[in-house]
Amino acid sequence: RSNPLVLGIETSCDETGIGIVRGSTLLSNTIASSMDEHARYGGVVPEVAARAHLEEMVPALNQAVAEAGISLNDIDAIAVTTGPGLSGALMVGVGAAKALAVALDKPIYAVNHLVGHVGADILDPSGTPFEYPTIALLVSGGHTSLLLVRDLVSDVELLGETIDDAAGEAFDKVARILGLPYPGGPQIDRVAAAGDPNAIRFPRGLSRPKDMEKHRYDFSFSGLKTAVARWVEQKQDAGLDVPVADVAAGFREAVADVLITKALAACADHGVPRLLLGGGVVANARVRELAAERAEKAGVALRIPPLSLCTDNGAMIAELGAQLIMAGHAPSTLDFSADSTLPV
Ligand code: KG4
Ligand code: ZN
Repeated sequence: RSNPLVLGIETSCDETGIGIVRGSTLLSNTIASSMDEHARYGGVVPEVAARAHLEEMVPALNQAVAEAGISLNDIDAIAVTTGPGLSGALMVGVGAAKALAVALDKPIYAVNHLVGHVGADILDPSGTPFEYPTIALLVSGGHTSLLLVRDLVSDVELLGETIDDAAGEAFDKVARILGLPYPGGPQIDRVAAAGDPNAIRFPRGLSRPKDMEKHRYDFSFSGLKTAVARWVEQKQDAGLDVPVADVAAGFREAVADVLITKALAACADHGVPRLLLGGGVVANARVRELAAERAEKAGVALRIPPLSLCTDNGAMIAELGAQLIMAGHAPSTLDFSADSTLPV
């Protein structure tokens, strides 16, 4: 089946994403985020996210269809995120997708959110997509995963992931320690620009020789967060001013360093000269800078899709559905459910 018209639905976290693609071409990508509602709680509240998806679903769907200039009846298939993510949030997307599939009598494809992030690269307007295999580093408020992608629709291997907090979550928690508003990633990034990244050396999680045997591709950020909290507390207890910019810069450096070091180690170990970045943390200036610098040194081609395709969105889910169809995969039967811990 060539160039199928696919509608994608993404509701794994706080973004209600509806995207429409034709083959490998992006037609529309509507995103409604409930982040504002979560801000006062200092984190995404699952119940609030689920309710927001329910409210945003139909308006987002209408907008995506209008922007794509199609009629809903024209679509060839529906793709929907079944996991991983927040259970209640996922259920809203799965329910909507099934309802559409039944009402329109169209096939439905249940897809994995993380693999969807990799599929986003195909829609990157800046050039031809990556060849496979590629290493993919996906970093957001919900996940920190390192994948070896030999084939997008049939061979994706999880090399490692965070054993505690996601990288974005660490940014959010450290921002709170420093008295910066939520979501903290962009705030830390901004404040860190004026700081000295080498003034304070914070620990790189799971990077000691012993850790590297068992957790070579895994990440840990909760020790780093605790180290920052303790450092700040000691200053405060001593009645000293906290050098917020230096703390932010030192913390940001530690996260960027460990992310890029492990991703490039995966490239070297597997003889893969390509690295794809995805997820909201890719917005981080130091992560981008360090990735560019070190990838070039290592002879690794670096690919970073535009931010609207890096953060959670429906277009990447639609594209993964289109790729499944073009590779001849059969649709899902309607008995699938949301799976908050769905493996890749
Ligand atoms: O992919 P995303 O929009 O949503 C999900 O988490 O699924 O990612 C949001 C996360 C938040 O934790 C936010 O603090 C972080 O990405 N983030 C950043 C930056 N911009 C957003 N982290 C570090 N630096 C940034 N510039
Ligand atoms: Zn995501």
